[in-house]
Amino acid sequence: MIETSKAFAETKPAPPRSVITDDNYSFLQKHVYNASGIVLDASKLYLIESRLTPIVRIERLQSLNELCQQVRQNSSSLLARRVVEAMTTNETLFFRDLAIFDALRKTVIPRILQAKAAGRKLSIWSAAASTGQEAFSLGMMLNEMGIRPGEVEILATDLSEQVLERARKGRFLQIEVNRGLPSSYLLKYFRQNGLEWEIDASIRNMVSFRSMDLRQSMRGMGPFDIVLCRNVLIYFDVDTKKAILDQIRGALAPGGTLVLGCAETIINLHDGFATETIGGAIVYFSKNSSGI
Ligand SMILES: C[S@@+](CC[C@H](N)C(=O)[O-])C[C@H]1O[C@@H](n2cnc3c(N)ncnc32)[C@H](O)[C@@H]1O
Repeated sequence: MIETSKAFAETKPAPPRSVITDDNYSFLQKHVYNASGIVLDASKLYLIESRLTPIVRIERLQSLNELCQQVRQNSSSLLARRVVEAMTTNETLFFRDLAIFDALRKTVIPRILQAKAAGRKLSIWSAAASTGQEAFSLGMMLNEMGIRPGEVEILATDLSEQVLERARKGRFLQIEVNRGLPSSYLLKYFRQNGLEWEIDASIRNMVSFRSMDLRQSMRGMGPFDIVLCRNVLIYFDVDTKKAILDQIRGALAPGGTLVLGCAETIINLHDGFATETIGGAIVYFSKNSSGI
C-alpha cells in the first residue's frame, strides 16, 4: 500500500505551471510580428510551446523564459531568426486544392497565352512557396500542357530560409510525394535517391527561389501573369493583408490573375480585383484603371 502510493507520488504529473511569463509572451508576440507580420494571439500558447521547445532543447537552455531572455539580448541574432522561422506554418502539398490547378490549366493559362505577344514568357509567382510543392506542381502542369521550360518563368519566394533551402534541392520524402502527387507524375518526374525523391532537373530549373518578406516593397517585381499567394494572408492582420494585396496588384500585369487559398477572400480588403468562379475555384483579376 505504502509502495503503491509512493509510486503514484513519483509518477504524478507536476502541478500545472506557466511555461512562459506574461511579459515574455508579449515579447514573443511583438518579436514574431515585427519580423514576419504573423499575429500570435493569446490562444497560441500551445503553438509557442510546441514550436519553441525543440529550440530550447537543442540550445541546452533551461526554459522558454531563458530562450526569450537570449532573444531579448540580441533580436537580430541567428537564434532570434530561428524563433521567427519556427513560428511560421509551412504546411503545403502537391496540387493543393486541385480545383485551382484545373482552373489555371483549362481556362486561365490558355487565355493568357492567347493574349500574349509572341516571344513573351509566361510569368508566374508562387508567393509564400514553403518547401516548393506549389511551384513544382505548376512546373509539371505546364510541362504537361506542352509549355517548355524556356517559355515560362516561375518565381518562388518565402520568408523562411529553412524551407527555401529544402525547396531549392527539389527533394521530397515519401510522405510528401504521397500527398497530392499523382503516381504517374511521381514516375515521370521524380527519381528515387535514398530515402528521398528528387524532381527532374527540367522542372527544378523552371523555378527560381528567393527569400522575401511579403511586407517588403515589390517595386521592380513582375509584371506577373499569375500570382499565387495562398494560405499565408490568414496569419496577418487586416492592415498587413491590405498592404500586401495592394503591392501584389502593382506587380501583376494588367488583367493578371491572383489566386488565394480556399479559406481566404479579398472581400472587404481590396476593390482593385474582380472575382471569377471557374469550376470549383475562385480566382481574382486585377481590374484596370477604369475598374474593368
Ligand atoms: C502554410 S504555408 C503556404 C504554402 C503554399 N502557399 C500553400 O498554400 O501550400 C505559408 C508560408 O508562408 C510563409 N510566410 C509567413 N510569413 C511570411 C511573410 N511575411 N512573407 C513571406 N512568406 C511568409 C511561411 O514561411 C510559410 O512557408
